[in-house]
Amino acid sequence: MSGCLVCGNNIEPFMSFGQMPLANGFLPEERFSGEYFYELSVAFCPNCTMVQLVRQPAAGKMFHDEYAFFSGTSAAMAVHFERFASRVISKFPASDDPFVVEIGCNDGIMLRHFADAGIRHLGIEPSENVARAANAKGVRTISRFFGEDLARDIVREHGRADAFLGANVMCHIAGINSVIRGIKTLLKPDGIAMFEDPYLGDVIEKTSYDQIYDEHVFLFSLSSVQYAFAQHGMELIDIEPQTTHGGSMRYLIAHKGARNVSGRVAAQLKTEDEMGLNRAETFDAFRKRCEESRDALKTLLSRLKGEGRRIVGYAATSKSTTILNYCDIDSSLLEFISDTTPIKQGKFSPGMHIPVRPYRDFVSNYPDYALLLAWNHSEEIMAKEELFRDAGGKWIVFVPRVRVIE
Ligand code: SAH
Ligand code: TMP
Ligand code: ZN
Repeated sequence: MSGCLVCGNNIEPFMSFGQMPLANGFLPEERFSGEYFYELSVAFCPNCTMVQLVRQPAAGKMFHDEYAFFSGTSAAMAVHFERFASRVISKFPASDDPFVVEIGCNDGIMLRHFADAGIRHLGIEPSENVARAANAKGVRTISRFFGEDLARDIVREHGRADAFLGANVMCHIAGINSVIRGIKTLLKPDGIAMFEDPYLGDVIEKTSYDQIYDEHVFLFSLSSVQYAFAQHGMELIDIEPQTTHGGSMRYLIAHKGARNVSGRVAAQLKTEDEMGLNRAETFDAFRKRCEESRDALKTLLSRLKGEGRRIVGYAATSKSTTILNYCDIDSSLLEFISDTTPIKQGKFSPGMHIPVRPYRDFVSNYPDYALLLAWNHSEEIMAKEELFRDAGGKWIVFVPRVRVIE
């Protein structure tokens, strides 16, 4: 029994994925023996409806000077964040001197558009290596963890913010109450917070259990986000569904009573109720589908390997750490994983120790099958890899169900 990170209610896990290494913990051979593991288990809080990890490695273990994820590795995400930035910029009256804060700005993929437009901005990025990449692009970034204390420091130095932004970072921070108090401190009375994260509704609908890993301490829904902010006198005023990362939700938050609440909020809350996102049974059924998906993937790969096929993993994503470890897929099944991120190449995948090799190793000797570990970027990847298909290569996908794309 442990306490809900949002409301303190007692929570019990509905599923365990077993012992897991750090999702982004790509490592050299000499570090195999000291590799860190923890039990990855997930709970649903029946009081506030938040889905969350029961325990999480310390933040400093995951976010540091050798953080492996660079946002700029996906061209489609660069376009997505350019649009996100323009949407925010278009809302500012031309005469103002707006101030924008983005947490988890990573390599500056979104904030650079504010920097280019000469808008006052500040990036908060605790992983120093990616923060350096942002600063190099002219994005003003400091390396600290966002929370209530930092929010006070920012207000003291820069004044309050018109917009608070975050993409794929709010769901990473276990101290969500401190973050929300920080947002409340930071925002002007008519300021707006906009953040987006993978959406629980999509995870349940697609059985995309690979969204569950150490960094994703929460899987947000409208009802849980609404509850979390309401505790601090803030209000969910609108939502904007996104197709990124296999289905995300952008939440718009304001001080309570400061802005009108869109009818979209009530409509989506009704949909969540119909989907059962606020009921424990939904997660028991989800656990069973995860087990079936795991067995189907392992069986398929073992059969193909038994038939003498070469299988390679495509993209060493953080999500793939859950898949490979939970399904027990090692280098006897996957010859290697191809990835475009230099910091991952030459290392091994966390836990299963499958070699990660540069993309050219995939192109220069196509395998018979490629396991698409970055299924959330499938449009971009399929378009890029027509030659692989032309050469007779086949994709294996596991979301929304395990299958071979002929
Ligand atoms: N926004 C980018 C990066 C997401 S990865 C994108 O969508 O592509 C999550 C990022 O959040 C990492 O770069 C990590 O270092 C950062 N992060 C983690 N905890 C944080 C915290 N408490 N405050 C600010 N950033 C944090
Ligand atoms: P993500 O799914 O967490 O965004 O991680 C993307 C990873 O996939 C990152 O390591 C880079 C890799 N990748 C490729 O290797 N090739 C590609 O075409 C794309 C889009 C991503
Ligand atoms: Zn709770």
